[in-house]
Amino acid sequence: MLWPLLLIPVLFLEWSMAAPLLSQTKPGCPDRCGNISIPYPFGLGEDPSCFREETSTFQLYCNDSYNPPRLFNTGDASTPIINITLQGQATLLLWPATYCFYSNGTLTDDSFNVILKMREGYRFSYTRNKFTAIGCDTSAFMSDASGLNFQSGCYSFCKSISNVLNGSCSGIGCCQTAIPKDVRILNLTQDNRYSRNFSYTSNPCRYAFLVDNDWFTFYVSDLWNFSKRVEYKINNIVALPVAMDWAIRDLTCEEAKRNRSSYACMQHASCIDSSNGPGYLCRCDKGYEGNPYLDNGCQGV
Ligand SMILES: *[C@@H]1O[C@H](CO)[C@@H](O)[C@H](O)[C@H]1NC(C)=O
Ligand SMILES: *[C@@H]1O[C@H](CO)[C@@H](O)[C@H](O)[C@H]1NC(C)=O
Ligand SMILES: *[C@@H]1O[C@H](CO)[C@@H](O)[C@H](O)[C@H]1NC(C)=O
Ligand SMILES: *[C@@H]1O[C@H](CO)[C@@H](O)[C@H](O)[C@H]1NC(C)=O
Ligand SMILES: *[C@@H]1O[C@H](CO)[C@@H](O)[C@H](O)[C@H]1NC(C)=O
Ligand SMILES: *[C@@H]1O[C@H](CO)[C@@H](O)[C@H](O)[C@H]1NC(C)=O
Ligand SMILES: *[C@@H]1O[C@H](CO)[C@@H](O)[C@H](O)[C@H]1NC(C)=O
Ligand SMILES: *[C@@H]1O[C@H](CO)[C@@H](O)[C@H](O)[C@H]1NC(C)=O
Ligand SMILES: *[C@@H]1O[C@H](CO)[C@@H](O)[C@H](O)[C@H]1NC(C)=O
Repeated sequence: MLWPLLLIPVLFLEWSMAAPLLSQTKPGCPDRCGNISIPYPFGLGEDPSCFREETSTFQLYCNDSYNPPRLFNTGDASTPIINITLQGQATLLLWPATYCFYSNGTLTDDSFNVILKMREGYRFSYTRNKFTAIGCDTSAFMSDASGLNFQSGCYSFCKSISNVLNGSCSGIGCCQTAIPKDVRILNLTQDNRYSRNFSYTSNPCRYAFLVDNDWFTFYVSDLWNFSKRVEYKINNIVALPVAMDWAIRDLTCEEAKRNRSSYACMQHASCIDSSNGPGYLCRCDKGYEGNPYLDNGCQGV
């Protein structure tokens, strides 16, 4: 009978969090794109009072010609944003580096190489994302933009499909490795110097990508059916959800507090240094809830 006892406090917490019903957006600014809500410092449209200006990270637009509408950073049309939280996270959809064969054994014109270049305010979450490759003879690499600061990768092999296991991404059909902190640009590549000892039907395509590991589980059928299984697509090409950490770059809390006209944290909010790249985030003080970046956004509960 432990179960009902646990359920009550959980429900209560949800109520008390929903109670204030405050807007997370600046007054008069659009607050959602489809069902994605947009918390300030992010904002939609051209009006500069709707978003925080100093980088191009926070100005978004909603493209209604998609159903449901899709949210993007202004000036970008290939990296949809699927959620944003006030705790400093956002999820974006990003393309994999792909390498496919036709049934006659020649290569298709897919992109072996993909450069993921994010806006200044973002960093790839090094806690939630994993660099991942799928394939039966896949060597996949990643590096920073110059290749001078870090290079890493993984290799996946499978002698026979019967060795490959659902849920296991440790080198047989699928491999994964961590990414470092403070990375905003990633160069993903696959190498074709290994044998082309493939079976077209069991593994026509190899993929290398970054992915939110809370979302990703490997299935044996991903070797032949990955692009059909993944629900996310951009221009009909499979895309993967990637967790980003955002922050008010590039000052520390201590530096930011010295300039009251640009300091982002409002009344009843405190400053927390970013744990991924330079910068800071704001958080409502204990006993307050709401949006710490808005004037009087943190309200007592
Ligand atoms: C938005 O709707 C889609 C499908 O309609 C759903 O998968 C997704 O979880 C929703 N997102 C939010 C933030 O509610
Ligand atoms: C919105 O999406 C449509 C369809 O992909 C595209 O043709 C159009 O250019 C986009 N609008 C903007 C402002 O990027
Ligand atoms: C292999 O198949 C593709 C697609 O059908 C075709 O474009 C290509 O010319 C073929 N290559 C050879 C060597 O037959
Ligand atoms: C892997 O999972 C799929 C989907 O749940 C299932 O249909 C399949 O039988 C599983 N394969 C193995 C080898 O466990
Ligand atoms: C990306 O990495 C590949 C392989 O290391 C390299 O050949 C290529 O020049 C890199 N691209 C850029 C733009 O740095
Ligand atoms: C290719 O596969 C065949 C049959 O599965 C095997 O006999 C051969 O050794 C493999 N070659 C390489 C280079 O792995
Ligand atoms: C954002 O979307 C991704 C992909 O659907 C999901 O894994 C993640 O939990 C979502 N995050 C939040 C905070 O809703
Ligand atoms: C491929 O994926 C689609 C979509 O998830 C699914 O309906 C289909 O059954 C899959 N096919 C195989 C052979 O796993
Ligand atoms: C304080 O911030 C404002 C607004 O961003 C900026 O114009 C000004 O130069 C900053 N002052 C100092 C001393 O950095």
